[in-house]
Amino acid sequence: MEVPQHVAIILDGNGRWAKQHGMPRNYGHTQGAKNVETICREAWNMGIKYLTVYAFSTENWSRPKDEVGALMKLLRNYMKNCMKTAEKNHMRVRVIGDISRLEPDLQESIHRLEEFSANQDGLNFQIAINYGSRDEMLRGMKQMLSDYGEGKFDLKDLDEKMFENYLDTRGIPAPDLLIRTSGELRLSNYLLWQLAYSELYFTDVAWPDFTKKELEKAVQDYNKRDRRFGGVTDPVSKPAKTDKGGTEGV
Ligand code: IPE
Ligand code: IPE
Ligand code: MG
Repeated sequence: MEVPQHVAIILDGNGRWAKQHGMPRNYGHTQGAKNVETICREAWNMGIKYLTVYAFSTENWSRPKDEVGALMKLLRNYMKNCMKTAEKNHMRVRVIGDISRLEPDLQESIHRLEEFSANQDGLNFQIAINYGSRDEMLRGMKQMLSDYGEGKFDLKDLDEKMFENYLDTRGIPAPDLLIRTSGELRLSNYLLWQLAYSELYFTDVAWPDFTKKELEKAVQDYNKRDRRFGGVTDPVSKPAKTDKGGTEGV
């Protein structure tokens, strides 16, 4: 079985899951955060090298104030625990998104975690916090225009590769597979540039119930796909499939 190198996840459904269990939404977020840790471990055991999860979007600020507060508190605790987990599991943690809008202490613990784990050789774990693709691209463009204004590059040299260096995900390969839990069929401003050619997998399972088995199901489903990049078959990472009635190359 081919394991995707990079899996991106929109972890959704914490609130609905909690409601189903007769609990407040924030309980769902707590359980969801615990599950992130489990899935990090299972992903690495399966051979996944990069995992990127959507923890808080630029749009999520419009949630009720006390839910935003609870999510920030949870992220704060999460960063502390993540230090231990990163050490134990050799994870390299990076945060994508505009963290300048977060409380200074949270920004500080993000920096500490990133620096502390920078040389780890286990799972590359990206957490999207105050992340929105449009915001990421705009921030990137502003920086790029500023560099251009300072004569740092020629317009003729600007290509996709160079632009990617202005994104928060610089140095990280594009996701092979996107998973969204809990039934919604949208991207919610997540990795729009990076997901251009990723395989998409949607499941009705809510995030706190998304187990190792569910992850395996997603990877199995991914294996049934004929990955193509505008051509007939991906010539680089996957040999032509012959188990589907020989229809490839048509
Ligand atoms: C996803 O669960 C977690 C975050 C966005 C932080 P939700 O909070 O979106 O849960 P639902 O979609 O309302 O059930
Ligand atoms: C997407 O989930 C953002 C995160 C998972 C952090 P939401 O549940 O907030 O998405 P929308 O806004 O309903 O599309
Ligand atoms: Mg949701």
